[in-house]
Amino acid sequence: MSERYTVRPASGPLRASVRVPADKSIAHRVALLAAWAEGSSELIDFPHSRDPRSTLASLAALGVPIEETRPGQIRVQGVGLRGFRLHGQRLWCGNSATTMRLLAGMLIGQRGEVWLDGDESLRRRPMERLAAPLRRMGGSVQTRDGLPPIYIQGTARLKGGGFRMEVPSAQVKSALLLAGLLAEGETTVLEPIPTRDHTERLLGLEPVQTPEGWLLRLVGGTIRPQPDRYQIPGDPSAAAFWAVAAALIPGSQIELLEVGLNPTRTAFLEVLRRVGAEVEVVCERWLGREPVGRICVRAAGLHPFRIDAPESALLIDELPVLAVLASQAQGESWITGARELRVKESDRIRAMTEGLRRMGARVEELEDGWVFEGPARLRGAEVSSCADHRVAMALAIAGLLAEGETVIEGAEWVEISYPGFWQTLARFQAMSS
Ligand code: S3P
Repeated sequence: MSERYTVRPASGPLRASVRVPADKSIAHRVALLAAWAEGSSELIDFPHSRDPRSTLASLAALGVPIEETRPGQIRVQGVGLRGFRLHGQRLWCGNSATTMRLLAGMLIGQRGEVWLDGDESLRRRPMERLAAPLRRMGGSVQTRDGLPPIYIQGTARLKGGGFRMEVPSAQVKSALLLAGLLAEGETTVLEPIPTRDHTERLLGLEPVQTPEGWLLRLVGGTIRPQPDRYQIPGDPSAAAFWAVAAALIPGSQIELLEVGLNPTRTAFLEVLRRVGAEVEVVCERWLGREPVGRICVRAAGLHPFRIDAPESALLIDELPVLAVLASQAQGESWITGARELRVKESDRIRAMTEGLRRMGARVEELEDGWVFEGPARLRGAEVSSCADHRVAMALAIAGLLAEGETVIEGAEWVEISYPGFWQTLARFQAMSS
């Protein structure tokens, strides 16, 4: 049943320190690699978010022993590179495209057959972009007109190949690298536009810069994931909601603690600086090959801004909340080169246009983004999350700025990446009133 959450406007500056949930992207990857190791791994600070939990459940259904030894601490008894049990079962990936796509890359080189399926939203996500290159590696993959469910008949005779990422996608890139570990010979992936690089870091791969983009190369059989102790940093994409709120509300200062600072994830901080916010970043330590530290954002200006194609790829999950920022900047702001937003958990271009328009934003919808004329006075309204976690949270940040109450329909979707979001928001509201 759809839940509603009422957001009241912030009546004063937001001043707080916040810890956000552990990074969803990294959580999927460490769980998957731990399952492929031979031996026992510990995942520390594993998030309660539903998407990474879908990965754990799918691994368990593939015969990987997984135990939550205490809340947020997971022990994975790895079964080795070819140890998954495929017997025609249907793996439930829920709302998580990362689970589905990365697992497809790992399953294609195992023996047996398996289905990957998910909820209504996941059943609308494009899968041919992954199925086609996996077929070129010799895999047998079927989709339903390019959409899930995916049927895989694994093969022990996968061959490496050379791939160029026409659509920037860290999920497809990662799936091809993982399939490449099981393939014979060399697999290369060329990214003309870079995307988040957690998989490469975990596998110890260094990209080479070429005139056509970043090139990754691996040879099947030469990399074997080892059992390890993985601690997962805070999620910068979750931190972005509060960072934008801090930039928007005069007098605010929000400190975000223990956040991942991987440069392929922190491009939103550059946008905040361009807008005029004061942003301070302190790298405090490394968790494996991921830098972690503190981010402090202070409101100090709201200049209009432009984001286009190469930058959009590194901001893909932050664009809904950056759209809220654009609605308040003083002048015309453009966000373009983000057509991929149309095939996320919802059509995020449409969802944010509808929600923000209802609240009074002046926005024009483009095929690949938006143009905003700011600053628009927002007023509370009833808006829909469109069953999309990031839309729910972005509209909630807009609600902090609006006059009157904003009701977010489908508020429960925040659980996909940020359980506790509404509690943190309530804490801010109590503080500012
Ligand atoms: C992710 C990659 C991105 C991103 C998603 C997580 C990942 O998707 O939007 O939230 O963990 O690799 P695409 O690969 O489809 O761009």
